[in-house]
Amino acid sequence: MNPFNPETTADRVLIFLRKKIGQPVEPKRLVKELKCSPENVVEAISELRSWGYTIKADRNGRYTLTGIPDSYLSAEIAYHLGTKMIGRKIYAYQTVQSTNTIAAQLAAMKAPEGTLVIAEYQTRGRGRLGREWHSPEKVGLYCSLILYPKIHPTQAPGISLMTAVALAETINSYDDIDVKIKWPNDVLISGMKAAGILTELSAELDRVEYVIVGVGVNLNQKRSDFPPELRETATSVRIGTKEKVNRREFLQRFLRNFEKEYFVFRKSGLKEARKSLLRYSALLNQEIKLKMGRKTIIGTVIDIDALGRLVLDTREGIIPFNAGEVSTH
Ligand code: BTN
Repeated sequence: MNPFNPETTADRVLIFLRKKIGQPVEPKRLVKELKCSPENVVEAISELRSWGYTIKADRNGRYTLTGIPDSYLSAEIAYHLGTKMIGRKIYAYQTVQSTNTIAAQLAAMKAPEGTLVIAEYQTRGRGRLGREWHSPEKVGLYCSLILYPKIHPTQAPGISLMTAVALAETINSYDDIDVKIKWPNDVLISGMKAAGILTELSAELDRVEYVIVGVGVNLNQKRSDFPPELRETATSVRIGTKEKVNRREFLQRFLRNFEKEYFVFRKSGLKEARKSLLRYSALLNQEIKLKMGRKTIIGTVIDIDALGRLVLDTREGIIPFNAGEVSTH
C-alpha cells in the first residue's frame, strides 16, 4: 500500500499534533521536525483552526491540540484509510464551485488514477440534466474521483451503477436504514433521495480518456435544512439513522467500498455488481414511466442487464434502455 504523502504544512502539523493530542508542543519543535519556517507553522496552525481544529496556544507559545472536528482535511481522510489506489491522492478544499470541474482539470493534467477532490461546500454543485446540487456547508459529502478505465464510451454508465452499489453498501452499513438504488444514478433512503451521482467523461469515439465520478450525499441535514422545494423528496443519512453521522468515517467507508467495486468492474464489468443492483433496486417489478427527451415509455421493470440497461416489459415487447429519467407515478 502506498503511504499517504502529506503535501501541505497543515497536513504535516496535524499529523504531528495528533500524535501528541492534549500535550503542549513547542513551535520550534515543529519547525525542527517538519523542516519548515516558524512562519509556515503559524500559517499551518491558522489553517487548521479554519478547518475547525481546536488548538490552544499557552503563554509560552506552545500549541496543544484539544479537539478534532469532523473535517475533510486531507490528512484526516488519509488517516487509517487503507485503500490501494482510491483516495491515495487528495485535493481537499473548504469552498469550490464544483468538485467535478476541478477533477476534470486535474485529469486533463494526468493526475493519478483514484485522485479524490473534495470540498466542505460547493457554490455551484451540479446535478444531472443541468440541475443544481444543493451543497450546504459541512453537512454533506461532495466529492469527485478521477478514473482512467480501459473501456468503450458506451460502458461508462456502468461506472455510475457500480458507484451506486458502493454508496448503497456504505449507507447500508449504518443501523436500521432502508436503502435502495433508483436506476440509473440515485440512492434512496426510505424512498426519498439521499445521494446522487454525476459521471462525466472525456472520450474519443472508441476510447475513454478519463471519467470523473461526482458523488453528492446528504449526510447530516435535518429536514429543515433542505430548501422547501426539496423537503418532500430529499432525505439524509442522519434522518434515516436518527443519529448524526461522522462524515469523514462515511467517506472512508465509501472509498473502501468504491475501490472494491471498481477493481471488480475493471476485471469483469457489471457482472458482479448486477446482483447487488437487483438486490437494492427500487424499481424491480414496478410499473414506471421512462422519459427520454420528448419520448415517454411505460413498462414494468423486469431486469437490469449485465450492460447496466434497464429492461422493460412494454406494449411493444421487452426492451433494454441505456438512459432516461424514471418516474414511478
Ligand atoms: C444528481 O443526482 O443529479 C447528481 C448529483 C451529483 C452531485 C455531486 S456533488 C460532488 C460533484 N460535484 C458536482 O458539482 N456534482 C457532483
